[in-house]
Amino acid sequence: MARTLEAAALVATALCLSSLLGFAYGHEKLDVVGKVFCDTCRVDFETKVSYGLADSKVRLECHNRTSGALTLSAEAVTDKTGEYRLEVEGDHEEEICEVQLIESSEPECSSLLEGAVHNARVALTNKNGVAQPARFANALAFAKKETLADCAQVLLEMGVLPPGLGQ
Ligand SMILES: *[C@@H]1O[C@H](CO)[C@@H](O)[C@H](O)[C@H]1NC(C)=O
Repeated sequence: MARTLEAAALVATALCLSSLLGFAYGHEKLDVVGKVFCDTCRVDFETKVSYGLADSKVRLECHNRTSGALTLSAEAVTDKTGEYRLEVEGDHEEEICEVQLIESSEPECSSLLEGAVHNARVALTNKNGVAQPARFANALAFAKKETLADCAQVLLEMGVLPPGLGQ
């Protein structure tokens, strides 16, 4: 009994020390926040006819800048608005961290547009002067296989020439 208590006290002390050290070195928790949308016009940006993709999977990975070794890997699933939030512990300042698309929940909106960027770089450090604990990643998109019929009109309204017109 006494031994158990002693062990418990030791564990408590160790936990306390490590959280203190973590605090001192800026090893706090950060949230990586981002969005996955369905690119219904196959243009690689959000329009009024694009929408957030629910229940879709993304993965955050960090790699050592020099050796390329994987230092962190975590997955998240988007909510009904297409947003995800990933909690990350520790400081990954010296690493390259990126969110990538893994899986779309909609088979009809699951293609990867050729030439588009399918990952978003994020800086996971508390030392860059950004006080709030959320880091926003650029929105990522899965594209529909066929563009919607409305797209030409939608893009014209945005002042963008639809692909296939002009030039
Ligand atoms: C990255 O890898 C190099 C070479 O293996 C190592 O010396 C260095 O400590 C690593 N950096 C971090 C931040 O882990």
